[in-house]
Amino acid sequence: MSATNSDDKNVMNNVQLDNETFTQFADLIYEKAGIYLSSQKQALVSSRLGKRMRKLGLNDYRAYYKHIRDDETDTELVHLLDAISTNVTQFYREPRHFDLFRDLLNRWEKEGQRRFRFWSAGCSSGEEPYTIAITARKTLQSVQDTKILATDISSTILEQARRGEYEPKRIEQVPDSVLRAFFRKYTKGGNTVYQITEDISSMITFARLNLATPPFPMQGPLDVVFCRNVMIYFDNEVRRRLLNEIYRLLKPGGYLMVGHSESLSGILSEFKVVEPAVYRKD
Ligand SMILES: C[S@@+](CC[C@H](N)C(=O)[O-])C[C@H]1O[C@@H](n2cnc3c(N)ncnc32)[C@H](O)[C@@H]1O
Repeated sequence: MSATNSDDKNVMNNVQLDNETFTQFADLIYEKAGIYLSSQKQALVSSRLGKRMRKLGLNDYRAYYKHIRDDETDTELVHLLDAISTNVTQFYREPRHFDLFRDLLNRWEKEGQRRFRFWSAGCSSGEEPYTIAITARKTLQSVQDTKILATDISSTILEQARRGEYEPKRIEQVPDSVLRAFFRKYTKGGNTVYQITEDISSMITFARLNLATPPFPMQGPLDVVFCRNVMIYFDNEVRRRLLNEIYRLLKPGGYLMVGHSESLSGILSEFKVVEPAVYRKD
C-alpha cells in the first residue's frame, strides 16, 4: 500500500508506529485471529490503524494499543481485526470450483443423497456463500434439506453479507439469467442496488467464527468446505490446526476447496489432492 496524505500527516505529527508497538499489535492480532504479520507489513498496519485511530480521536499508537487492551467487551478488538483483514471477494471467484461443485452435486443427488451441508469459511461480504447457494439451487432438484453455513471473524462484514445488497460493479461476474432469477433490482438513495432474493438467502446462516481457534461448535458431516483466500494470513501451525478440524467435520468423500494461490503442500497430511486447490477426504 502506498503512503497516503494521511500517513504523511502522521509523520508530521511525529506519531509513527515504532517497532516495539508494532510487535505488540502483531502479537495481539496473532493471538486473537491467527493472522501472522511480518515486519514487512509494518507500513500497512500503520496506515490501516491510523485510519481507525483518527475515527477515535487518538494520535498515538501506544495509546490505541492500551485502549484495545483495556476494553473488556472486545468491541475495539473487532474494529482492529476489521482494519487489518482484507475482505476482497467476488461472485463466482475462481469459477473452476463452482463447475466442480455442480458436478459433485449432480453425482451425489443421482446416488440418492438428499441432505446437503456446505460451509463457506471466511465468507467476507457474502459473494461466496451466495454463489454456493445459487449453484445448489440451480443444480439440485430439491434444496429442501440444503444448508450453508457462512462464517467470518469480522462482525461488520457479516452485517453487510446478511443484507445481501450489491452495487452494479460488484455483480459484473453474475450471468444475466442468474441476476434475473435470484436478485431483486431497486433504487436506494438514488443508486441502483441488486439484492439477493429470500429464496437464496434463506438457505444460508451467517455467524461469527474465528478460524484460528478450533474446535468449532458445529455438527458435521459436511459435504463441501470452501476455505478460500483466508489461510494466506495464517502461519503453518494455525493452518494445520484448521485443516485438521475441517478434515474432522467433512464426510468421507467430502471436498475442500482452497484459494488457487494458497500452497498447502507439506501440511495436508490426510487430504488427497484432487487437482490444484481441490482436496478430498477419503
Ligand atoms: C480475502 S477474504 C476471502 C473471501 C472469500 N472466501 C473469497 O475467497 O472470495 C478473507 C476473509 O477472511 C476473514 N478472516 C481473516 N482472518 C480470519 C479468522 N481468523 N477467522 C475467520 N475469518 C477470518 C476476513 O475477515 C475476510 O473476510
